[in-house]
Amino acid sequence: MRQMPRRAKTPGWLTAAREANRPGTDWLARALGRSGAVHPSELEATLAAGRVRVDGKVTTKPFTPVTEGSKVTVDGKPVPLERQSRVLMLHKPAGVLAQGSGRDKRLTVVDVLGPLLDEAQQRYAWHAVGRLDVDTTGLLLFTNDERTVARVTSPESHLPKRYLATVHPKASEAMLQPLRDGVLLDDGPARPAVAKVRAPGVVELTITEGRNHQVKRMLAAVGLPVLKLHREAVGGIELDVEEGAMRELSAEEVKTKL
Ligand code: URA
Repeated sequence: MRQMPRRAKTPGWLTAAREANRPGTDWLARALGRSGAVHPSELEATLAAGRVRVDGKVTTKPFTPVTEGSKVTVDGKPVPLERQSRVLMLHKPAGVLAQGSGRDKRLTVVDVLGPLLDEAQQRYAWHAVGRLDVDTTGLLLFTNDERTVARVTSPESHLPKRYLATVHPKASEAMLQPLRDGVLLDDGPARPAVAKVRAPGVVELTITEGRNHQVKRMLAAVGLPVLKLHREAVGGIELDVEEGAMRELSAEEVKTKL
């Protein structure tokens, strides 16, 4: 008799993660990390030690689905699960990596941000919202809410990001026209961008995607290699702190400008 091929069993954690991705549902580790109730570095140990309960039951699995109505406690203390999306703006200096590889000992944005956080802000894991190249300066957002990262960086959100590029040779309005029409890049056409000559040799470019090195590639495609790049704005958030400084956005700013 012919044997039916056996279907691979879906791992329990994957089923739980899929379940937790439904609207209005989240998973325990992510909700706890966002709440600031447990320091991210202690999350795994806190769960493994049986200190976390969901609706009265000890829960050790990070992917346990939770909703805003779930009653989560750590050491018996209730954890507020309502959406607490907090966002910081950092003025990234040049020469700082967006992400460290572990082996690379160069300064990263997390090294820059760490000493600027107050005690309350240190309780969260801060995720960079998108990336900037090592030599790019300007507005880099961080959030405690991974869903904010997904929403802001998704090309579907069409959130504008405004850059100022120093280019050589000097740009003319005519040279920028292909950028307004949707210039062809090696990974497909870029969406039409807003492009202006701001000063001789300085181009303002606003894009609604965030592909790798996109601004540099777009400007190179019209014969304007970038010498310096700076991000001025993301959505309605305009960079307004000095290089190397940060501030937390108000809840109103997060709600209406991102
Ligand atoms: N586009 C780039 O080319 N570099 C950046 O850092 C950001 C956008």
